[in-house]
Amino acid sequence: MNILGLSCFYHDAAAALLQDGVLIAAAEEERFSRKKHDSGFPSHSIRFCLRQAGIDVRDLDYVVFYEKPFVKFERILMTSLQTVPKSFKLFGQAMKSWLVDRLWVKGVIQSELGVESKKILFSDHHVSHAASAFLCSPFSEAALLTVDGVGEWATASSGVGSGNDIRLNKEIRFPHSLGLLYSVFTAFLGFEVNEGEYKVMGMAPYGTPRYVDKVYKLIHTDSDGSFRLNMDYFSYHYSPDRAFNSKFVDLFGAPREPESLFFTAASGYPVYFGARPTNFESLAKLNEHYADIAASIQVVTEEVLLHMAKALHRETGLKRLCMAGGVALNSVANGRLLRETPFEEIYIQPAAGDSGGALGAALYVYHSLLGQPRRFVMEHAYWGEKFSTGEVRDFLARENLDNEVFDDEEKLLDRVVDALQNGKVAGWFQGGFEWGPRALGHRSILADPRRNDAKDIVNVKIKFREPYRPFAPSVLEERSEEFFALPAPERHYPNRFMLYVAKVHESAQPRIPATTHVDGSARLQTVRRDTEPRYYRLIEKFGAATGVPVLMNTSFNLRGEPIVTTPADAVKTFFNSGLDLLVLENCVITKTA
Ligand SMILES: [Fe+2]
Repeated sequence: MNILGLSCFYHDAAAALLQDGVLIAAAEEERFSRKKHDSGFPSHSIRFCLRQAGIDVRDLDYVVFYEKPFVKFERILMTSLQTVPKSFKLFGQAMKSWLVDRLWVKGVIQSELGVESKKILFSDHHVSHAASAFLCSPFSEAALLTVDGVGEWATASSGVGSGNDIRLNKEIRFPHSLGLLYSVFTAFLGFEVNEGEYKVMGMAPYGTPRYVDKVYKLIHTDSDGSFRLNMDYFSYHYSPDRAFNSKFVDLFGAPREPESLFFTAASGYPVYFGARPTNFESLAKLNEHYADIAASIQVVTEEVLLHMAKALHRETGLKRLCMAGGVALNSVANGRLLRETPFEEIYIQPAAGDSGGALGAALYVYHSLLGQPRRFVMEHAYWGEKFSTGEVRDFLARENLDNEVFDDEEKLLDRVVDALQNGKVAGWFQGGFEWGPRALGHRSILADPRRNDAKDIVNVKIKFREPYRPFAPSVLEERSEEFFALPAPERHYPNRFMLYVAKVHESAQPRIPATTHVDGSARLQTVRRDTEPRYYRLIEKFGAATGVPVLMNTSFNLRGEPIVTTPADAVKTFFNSGLDLLVLENCVITKTA
C-alpha cells in the first residue's frame, strides 16, 4: 500500500512516501525549488518520492494532507470577527490567500496530481505532528507532546500513544501559543520569524536572563500544565504586519533593528564584519541588552516546556515521551527535558516542524486509521535524493571539471582527514540528503574543531554567519561521553539528529574550542557506524590522526540559501565560496591556486 503525505501552504512544504508502512522517501520542497522555506505545493518533492519508490501517481492508495483547511479557515475567520475592526486588514489578506487555493486543497491536489477525490484524506495538524514522532519511534507506548505556533486551533496538545493508536486528550488553543510567543521575540530581536528562532537560541547564552519576570507578565502557567498568554501585549491575532504592540515595547524597550550586526564584548568583533566601529563599546552594550532579552525568553520557554512535560508525566506515569511541532526543534530546551523531567527517553524525529506533518499524516492513516501494525523506526535522517559516483562523474565530465576519483574508500578518507588537519575546509556530499533542517553529514561543511579559529575560517570562507551562532560537533557515538555530558548516548535518538544541547565537559572544552558555545555547551550529533558508515569512518580516522574523534559540522549552503541538493548545487556553492575541497561521493575537487 502506497501512502503519500503532504504538507504545504503555511510553513515548509514537504512530501513523504510510505510503502506498506515503511518510509521510502521524504523531502522538503525548498531543497528542489531552491526557495528557502518554500511553502508552495511540493510538486518536486512528490515527483522525487514517486521516483524513489518506482511508482506512478496511479499507484497511490491515499494522499493525506497534514491539516484540515476548513477548520483552520474557521479559526482565522472567528479570530478576525472577534477582533473587528482591528483585524480588518488581516481579514482582507486572509480571505484573499485562503480563497485562492488553501481552502480548496482537495481540488489543488486533484488537479496537480490527478488522483481521485476519494483517495484524498485530511489529518488534524497536531495529530500529524504527534504521529510524525510516535509512529516512527521505537516506543510501543509513550506520552505525546506537540508544541508549535499554531495549527488549526491548537497550538499545543498532549496525550498518549499506544501501539498504532494516537490519543490527544488535551490542547491549548490559539491565540495562546508558546511557539508564537517565541516568534514574537524573534521578530522583536530583528529576525525573520520561522527562520530566526535558532538565532535567538544562539544569542541567549551571550546574555543574562534578567527579564524573566517581565516575560512572565506575558504568560501564565496553571498547575495542570497548561498556559495562557496575556493578549494585551500582542497584535498577531489581528494584525498581519506586527506581532507585538506598544504595551510590549513599554515593557521591553525599542525592538532591535532588523538583521543588524550582533556582537558583544564576549563575542568580539569578527574580522568578516569589516572595520571595528569606533563606538564598539556602546553598540556591544546595546546588543547585550538584547541578548538578555533572548536569554529571558529562552529560559521561560524552557520552563514552560518543563512544566508541561512534568504535568504530562504526572498524568500518564509513562517513562517515554515523543515530541513534535516547531518548538521541539529547540535543542536547548530538549536537553533540559531529558535532564530535568522524569522522562527517561525522548523521541523527536529530525523534521519536527511543519514539514514533518507530511510524514505524520501518512503514518497516521496507515496505522491509526487503517489499523496496520507498526514496522518502521526512523533510525536516520537520510531520506532525500542521492547521486551515485557514476552520476557525479558524468556531471563533472559534462562540466569539464577536473577531479580525482577514489575507488578505495580508505584513501579517500585519508585525503580528507589530511586536508582537515591542515586547516582546510571541506564540502562533504554523500548519499541521500537530510530530512529536516539540520545537515547531519550528508550535505555538510566540515572543519577541524580543535582550531580556535575554525569558526572564523568557515565564516570568512562561506557562511558569514553571526558570530554567536555555534557550529555543531559530530562525534563518534562510543566516544561521545569523553566530551559531552549526555550519559549513554546510544540509548537516545534526538542526539543523532542534533536535537539535544549538552554541556561540554570542562576538561574537553580546550580540545574542541570551535564547537563549544560561549556557555560551554554544544549541539552535538552522535554518529553511528550502522546508519552513517562513511561519515563514521571519516571521524574515526580523524580521531586516530588527532586524538579527537570529532568534526565541526555545519550545513552545506551559502547564507540565505537552502542546503545543497544536487552535485550541481554543491559545485556552484564550492566555487562561490572559499571552500578548499569538495568531496562528491568518491570524487574530490580542489581549487588550484
Ligand atoms: Fe505545526
